[in-house]
Amino acid sequence: MIIGVPKEIKNNENRVALTPAGAQELVKRGHNVYIQHTAGEGSGFPDEMYVEAGASILPTIEATYEIAEMIMKVKEPIEAEYKLIKENQLMFTYFHFASYEPLTKAMVESKSVCLAYETVEKADKSLPLLIPMSEVAGRMAVQKGANYLEKPLGGRGILLGGVPGVLPAKVLILGGGIVGTQAAWMAAGLGADVTIMDLNLPRLRYLADVMPANVNTMMSNEFNIRKLIQNHDLIIGAVLIPGAKAPNLITRDMLKEMLPGTVLVDVAVDQGGCIETCKPTTHQDPTFVIDDVVHYCVANMPGAVPYTSTLALTNATLPYAIQLANKGWKKAAQDNPELALGLNIINGDIVYQAVAEAFDMDYTPVVKYLAD
Ligand SMILES: NC(=O)c1ccc[n+]([C@@H]2O[C@H](COP(=O)([O-])OP(=O)(O)OC[C@H]3O[C@@H](n4cnc5c(N)ncnc54)[C@H](O)[C@@H]3O)[C@@H](O)[C@H]2O)c1
Repeated sequence: MIIGVPKEIKNNENRVALTPAGAQELVKRGHNVYIQHTAGEGSGFPDEMYVEAGASILPTIEATYEIAEMIMKVKEPIEAEYKLIKENQLMFTYFHFASYEPLTKAMVESKSVCLAYETVEKADKSLPLLIPMSEVAGRMAVQKGANYLEKPLGGRGILLGGVPGVLPAKVLILGGGIVGTQAAWMAAGLGADVTIMDLNLPRLRYLADVMPANVNTMMSNEFNIRKLIQNHDLIIGAVLIPGAKAPNLITRDMLKEMLPGTVLVDVAVDQGGCIETCKPTTHQDPTFVIDDVVHYCVANMPGAVPYTSTLALTNATLPYAIQLANKGWKKAAQDNPELALGLNIINGDIVYQAVAEAFDMDYTPVVKYLAD
């Protein structure tokens, strides 16, 4: 198969959909890989590394789209790319269709085949191509929180791990899923006194089993949250109710009960946030202060660490890309139900029900395309 990897053109996006190592794996299997000039640069992969891996470099985005049977990307196509996408071309990338109607309509019109990273789903309901970004954001949440706890940045001036003779900082994590667990490992590793809250008792049991001694677990409810926010230095929002807006677990009135210089990192901000006062911020201007409480609410945290994020994402996408390249999208989706669930739009038909419902558009069950 001919695979094209364009350079990401969305503002501040430095990730790339394929590493030189990934290109090598595809080339080894007999595929032709074309990388747009400088596509990997933002992640630390110059053109020469791709050439050494057996890929070819194309000078422009137009040439990359023109030649490819499968386009591998990171972010959803933006308007300037719509016209480059061809009929029958396989687009393997994040789309998040339900949040943006113009993109959905453009992809319907393109008659391409859109396989969305975010809806590839395993039998246990986990989303293997979203997990890596949650891992990055969870770990980063503690790094950022520790930083903003420093006095010159508005924080309480407390060192996360303390020092001998001085108690460590207290970290409260709301939600013990992927983000919360990774945050807990980082905070615990730095020596903080950590509490994870979740509603899911089996999950709390699991966390209590695997976490080190400086991590406690607690049932998530308003009573417990109100009590703990009064003496915790760093609070990380990491809850998710799939398909719904995050619940406001910390409300405006609660800020007054916190210590001045408390830091809130609401990782769930991309789902509306679990802290009422959190509004999306950017890496350029990541924080704001309300009632002496520092709010960090960057909606695309992994974008700040493109090297790690690119490697983490491609570790997860490559096995699927290889199946798609070896078999073509139809046979790959027939053989692997995880990939079949990734199909969102085929030849102008919306084949993912939630996307069709989001815009009151016609829905075509994907079996229409997968039946022999
Ligand atoms: N800001 C970013 O850059 C960024 C990056 C990656 C992920 N995220 C977001 O982080 C959030 C968490 O993602 P995840 O992968 O960890 O999800 P997850 O499904 O693995 O975990 C969510 C956890 O929240 C728990 N939960 C639900 N309601 C709760 C409540 N009321 N109190 C306490 N816990 C509750 C669930 O039981 C679950 O364990 C999502 O909104 C995700 O989109 C943001």
